[in-house]
Amino acid sequence: MPQIPPTIKDGQEGLYLPNAEGQTLDPADWEGFRTQAHQMLDDMIEYTRKIRERPVWQPIPEEVRARFQGPAPLEPSSIAEVHREFMDHILPFAVGNVHPGFMGWVHGGGTSVGMLAEMLAAGLNANLGGRDQIPVEVERQVSHWMQEVFGFPESAAGLFVTGTSMANFIALVIARDVRLGCEVRNLGVAAESKQLTAYGSTAIHGCVSKAMDLCGLGSDALRLVSTDNRRRINLTALESAIKKDREAGFTPFLVVGSAGTVDTGAIDDLAELAAFARREQLWFHVDGAYGALAMFAPEQAPKLRGIEHADSLAFDFHKWGQVPYDAGFILVRDGALQRKAFSASSAYLARETRGLAAGSPWPCDFGPDLSRGFRALKAWFTLKVYGTRTLGSVISRTCDLARYLEQRVVDAPELELLAPVELNIVCFR
Ligand SMILES: Cc1ncc(COP(=O)(O)O)c(C=O)c1O
Repeated sequence: MPQIPPTIKDGQEGLYLPNAEGQTLDPADWEGFRTQAHQMLDDMIEYTRKIRERPVWQPIPEEVRARFQGPAPLEPSSIAEVHREFMDHILPFAVGNVHPGFMGWVHGGGTSVGMLAEMLAAGLNANLGGRDQIPVEVERQVSHWMQEVFGFPESAAGLFVTGTSMANFIALVIARDVRLGCEVRNLGVAAESKQLTAYGSTAIHGCVSKAMDLCGLGSDALRLVSTDNRRRINLTALESAIKKDREAGFTPFLVVGSAGTVDTGAIDDLAELAAFARREQLWFHVDGAYGALAMFAPEQAPKLRGIEHADSLAFDFHKWGQVPYDAGFILVRDGALQRKAFSASSAYLARETRGLAAGSPWPCDFGPDLSRGFRALKAWFTLKVYGTRTLGSVISRTCDLARYLEQRVVDAPELELLAPVELNIVCFR
């Protein structure tokens, strides 16, 4: 019988990673690992607790950057050493969005609760592509909560994705398949005589154009419509763009409404847009990447009136929901259409009525990803620990802060307000 070499060699006791022969990746010394793990957790708690004492952002010194250009490691290092490297050379040079003084773009700040949930999810290392497991039920529960929050019907389906770029892409694929029929999945758009066109305001996010490209329709087929003085899509201009396209032989199929544009936080008149889309028989998708969760704030929510009529809604828990990156979400009014657009059968994904292979439909039937992490856990934790009321009041506070800044800008003769303040974005010069 071949000899199995010992897992720890003399002199390697301090290594928490495998022995030289690599029979296992388990810690060689669990107690030492525990001490190290507690140290790492303490360091992160201290980092978060004292974040106000740090700069929001600092430039990366050349010698630090150079450390990240070496070759792939062949030999093991101790976890303590690698952690030291993290503390010294990674942690100080991140974007800074955890800092309360970070006010750029629409980055979320995350929470300490979300950080812990990430750790638990990583420990479980669940793959949420499918199968009968409670992590999938957690994702379904968050989806039900969102269905409730946004006034979607029972037929709705929800799915965690990386971010709104992916969520918008998924929505466009569903809308495309609804208009062209699911044969397009086999035949491709090249076999199609119809030329589909989509519509959104000039303020919509660039990822919508990218999604048009990715689903084979081409970014030129996205028509950007002018906006009114509140940067909302101009419905008269939209109507005439569609009419013109129809006369020229195009097939309009989709209108994208914005619930908080990336640059000024503008919100289209979603109720009017929903009614318009229904009349014109267009798929109505709402990009609510950052603004949709204003639903949690009772005094902001009325601005989103009409969102409940969307055929699909994309938003990010990692923005105003303060869930750590990444945690995008797509909610589709008729989940059956989403499933038609993405399900595919293969022997290795066969479904059973009991056992681990039960529980169909699976999340992989609703989007392009098969392997999927447990993003739902950090959102579930965040929602349960804070409740939507507290998250909503934090959202409200950021809007109040924006109103305060708006007033300061208006009061200062040397400053000029460049766009109306709708939510929590203030543009001025
Ligand atoms: C309105 C809007 N749409 C889409 C996106 C893209 O979302 P993500 O970065 O999560 O992919 C953003 C990002 O800021 C956004 O603000």
